[in-house]
Parts: sequence; structure tokens; C-alpha cells
Amino acid sequence: MPVHKPLLAVLNGQRQASPPIWMMRQAGRYLPEYRALRAEAGSFLGLCFDPAKAAEVTLQPIRRFGFDGAILFSDILVVPHALGQTVTFEAGEGPRLDPISDRSGLGRLERDLSPDVVSPVYETVARVKASLPVNVTLLGFCGAPWTVATYMVAGRGGEDQVAARLFAYRDPEGFQLLIDRLVETSIAYLAGQVAAGADAVQIFDTWAGVLPEPEFERWCVDPVRRIVEGLRAIAPGIPVIGFPKGAGFRLKRLVEAAGVQAVGLDWTADAAFVSREIQTRVAVQGNVDPIALLAGGDALDRAVDRVLASYGAGRLIFNLGHGILPPTPIEHVERMIARVRAWSA
Ligand code: CP3
Repeated sequence: MPVHKPLLAVLNGQRQASPPIWMMRQAGRYLPEYRALRAEAGSFLGLCFDPAKAAEVTLQPIRRFGFDGAILFSDILVVPHALGQTVTFEAGEGPRLDPISDRSGLGRLERDLSPDVVSPVYETVARVKASLPVNVTLLGFCGAPWTVATYMVAGRGGEDQVAARLFAYRDPEGFQLLIDRLVETSIAYLAGQVAAGADAVQIFDTWAGVLPEPEFERWCVDPVRRIVEGLRAIAPGIPVIGFPKGAGFRLKRLVEAAGVQAVGLDWTADAAFVSREIQTRVAVQGNVDPIALLAGGDALDRAVDRVLASYGAGRLIFNLGHGILPPTPIEHVERMIARVRAWSA
């Protein structure tokens, strides 16, 4: 008998009576055991590149909560780092990179990912796979080219991703070269994670929502389509979850044109639209507002019930609409999980 992995089953088209559940950023600062290991490890990237510690951090939320999915502990900015761009994380300030603000900066990037940088990530995947309960789905991930490019170009997170949009308007062909590099290397990076044991992958396009329509098509839909195509040529049948945060009604483009097997919904998604136009075609994942989880109590219960009522009759992977926030009490997470597990329809 093959092992039953409920999350993977949903991605492969089989609705589960009790929706599988995991949370974006489930390994992180809201957990005391994460904070302890993080303090020991020193830098955040040091933690990402230490396979024993990164595997342990990946497993922490599985042990504590019994989630149906484990997501590799790493970061989307590992890819620019592996292309030779200097990436650092300042405590409390987020990422810092030496910006590539125009075409001339592209010369600083390597053509391929440095094996020295990505090998420890693949080793983390293999270690997690070896000690993960067999019914838990192991998710690999990368950032979508557009979202990764916004950090590479600005050198940091920023308002409305101005720097990348400016580069793309001033020199679309030059910006395309950057996107193309990220498409090629993301395919290799995801294929490496799958070879090491990932059951499925998620592509995080956190800043998809800021682009006008033609640019959404060119910088979000098309690159993700090429990644899905490239990855599935190497690893046939591997499910891909697209997460174009803020895409609204354009989620449909990702499903129709990019060929993903599931979409992550942020908390602003229109439930009537999604159940009619999206969930009839692919699985959906989401979408409790992380602020409702922070609030807890009745507000959280209502948010959970709304997700179950909106999407529970179809293929649903229960999740948040974006990452859990560091000040979130653990009891709120427990309350959410208990409520989801108690529900079945
Ligand atoms: O979901 C998980 O548990 C897996 C691990 C994961 C992390 N980052 C760990 C992390 C994943 C999937 C990411 C994705 C990521 N990283 C995205 C896309 C999804 C999203 O959340 O929008 C983005 C945009 C990044 C870039 C990034 N990494 C930023 C902007 C920051 C700083 C902001 C912050 O929350 O501190 C990070 C740091 C980061 N990545 C932390 C963690 C646990 C916190 C670092 C620490 O422990 O000090």
C-alpha cells in the first residue's frame, strides 16, 4: 500500500474530508524552540546553510502541532546569494543586498547557482525527508522571479517595489535578462530540492499584486509558467503551488496560463470568484488573515469558519493568507488547528 499523504492527495486532485493544514512561516520566531536555536546559530543565513540545524527547525512545528506539511527552512534570497550577490540579514531590519539597479549590474551575477551554496539546502531536504512522519508532505520552495528581483534591484524590501518597476520600465530587455536568469536557476534549484526528496513545491510571488496588467503577465505569469514547464520536464508530475499575493481576479491567469496545480490565496481573495473560477480547476490553499490569528478568540474562530465554509466542500489545503507574525501566541495556533480538525463535511 502506498503511504497516504493527505496534503499531496489534495494537490493531486483528491479532496480530503478533513482538510490538510500547514502555515506559511510555520518555522519561525513565534516558537520558543526556534528562537533558542536561532540564538545558538548566530546569523539567519548561517542557520539556513547548516543542514542539521535547518532540518531541526523544519521539524519543530511538525512535532509541536502535527501539521500535514513541512516546508523546507530556508529563504527565497538564497538564490541571489548563490548567484554571487552579497545577501545579509540585519537583526530587526530585514534583508540587505548590493543593489543591481540597471543592466550594468547584471555582469556581477554568475550564470549558474554556486553548488557550495545550494548543496547544504538540498542536504537539509534529504535530512528532513529521512526523519519526517511518512504521512507528512515535504514542500520545497523558491521565490518567483519577480519577487526575488524586487529585492535584488532595490537591495532591500521596500515600498511598492519602486526600484524593480523603474528598471523594468526603463529597460524591459535588460530586466528580462534578470528574470530569465532567475527562471533558469529557479528550475535547477527546485529540481535539486525534488531530487533530494521534496514531494511538491511552492513558488512565492509576494509582490505580484503591485503590477499593472501587461506587466503582471510578463513578469509574473510568464516566468512562473516557464518554471512549471521546466521543472515538470525534469520531475514529471511534481505538483506546483503558485502564491501570487495580491493577484485578486488575476489568479485565473496563473491557473490558465502558468499551469500550476494549486494556488495560495491571500486573505483578501474573493470567495465567490475563487470557488467558481479557481477551485473548479485546481486546489486552493489559504487563507486566514494572519492578523485574525494574532487576535485569537471569536475573531479567529470566525475567520477559520469562513475559510471552511467558502472552500471546504472542494479541494482545500488549510493555511494562512500569508506568514504567521512573530508575536502570535502559540495557543491561537492550537485553537485554529483544533477547530479545523473538528470540522468535516
Ligand atoms: O515558511 C517557512 O516556515 C519556511 C521558511 C521561509 C522563510 N522565508 C524563513 C524566514 C520561507 C518560505 C521564506 C520566504 C520568504 N522570504 C519570502 C516570501 C514569502 C513571504 O513571507 O512574503 C520573502 C519575501 C522572504 C524574504 C525575507 N526573509 C524577508 C523580507 C525577511 C525579513 C522579514 C522578517 O520576517 O524578518 C526574511 C527573514 C526570514 N525568513 C525569517 C524567517 C524565519 C526571519 C529571520 C530571523 O529568524 O531572524
